[in-house]
Amino acid sequence: MADSKNFLTIRRPDDWHLHLRDGDMLQAVVPYTARQFGRAIVMPNLSPPITSVAAAESYRNRIRLALPEGADFEPLMTAYLTDEIAPDEIERGHAKGVFTAAKLYPAGATTNSAAGVTDIANIRPVLERMERIGMVLCIHGEVTDGDVDIFDREAVFIDRILAPLTRDFPALKIVLEHITSADAVQFVESAGDRVAATITPHHCIINRNALFKGGINPHAYCLPVAKRERHRAAVRAAATSGSAKFFLGTDSAPHARHAKESACGCAGIFNAPYALESYARVFDEDGALDKLEAFASENGPRFYGLPLNEGTVTLRREAQSVPDQLEGELVPFLAGETLEWRLD
Ligand code: DOR
Ligand code: ZN
Repeated sequence: MADSKNFLTIRRPDDWHLHLRDGDMLQAVVPYTARQFGRAIVMPNLSPPITSVAAAESYRNRIRLALPEGADFEPLMTAYLTDEIAPDEIERGHAKGVFTAAKLYPAGATTNSAAGVTDIANIRPVLERMERIGMVLCIHGEVTDGDVDIFDREAVFIDRILAPLTRDFPALKIVLEHITSADAVQFVESAGDRVAATITPHHCIINRNALFKGGINPHAYCLPVAKRERHRAAVRAAATSGSAKFFLGTDSAPHARHAKESACGCAGIFNAPYALESYARVFDEDGALDKLEAFASENGPRFYGLPLNEGTVTLRREAQSVPDQLEGELVPFLAGETLEWRLD
């Protein structure tokens, strides 16, 4: 069909790593995600963090209330692991269908991670329980030691923490979130089928030069920070490879413009508004549009043991410009650029 080059219809996708925030910010950002995705794994790094079943249920309600009328979107909640969190609370939340996964933030690794885990030994009982009940562990994979170069923190985490963890808990399902390095790609590829990874659009598109192009660019700053070109290329090749171990997770992380453009700007790239179009650019440029559906709509639910979404979305080859700013003083990823695809 002549038009098959200009239209791409895929099963409705999900976002397996997303920050929705709370309050006014939640209201401003959730429509962008709900318009594209059937479900999203919602990160628990609020202030205070989501560390109980009750807190997750009430946050889930606030998300549902913020949805545009008629939206067909299911927030999948996560528990924020702390040194003290009780295995029983995690299991209760999982059994009740509230906690889809639990998130490990090494303390101090990123936004609102101060209450995170200070030593993996402190959560061994939780990990044992999760392994037993088949609950997914999502990991922010960076060490926080000040003496480790920021560009090496993911690779060092893999060596020091993740490799031993996968040996100690061979049946634990682990998602290494937002991978940024060739080291991470290689680790995930060679690990067993219990280990997978999410990949963001920005880590497929920018390398660390973007942070300093023509001056300091806070809107290209996120954690883990973008790495050098060979790492971007490896991450992108993994995304478009068709391997079931890699799936879509935007890590869309909105911060108001003034919080980014500040002497100590926050980490996070707000890519939700044009997420699918950004991934479409990547897969199209690499001649892999036929692999987008598996990456966006199949590999994630299969790993999590959840049903695939019903319904489809259609992308059309039609240029659109990304605005410099969106409502809520938010600067979207690729602001000012032209995207080749548009979501119908
Ligand atoms: O860039 C990031 N922003 N990385 C994270 O891990 C957290 C996120 C946020 O919540 O702002
Ligand atoms: Zn994140």
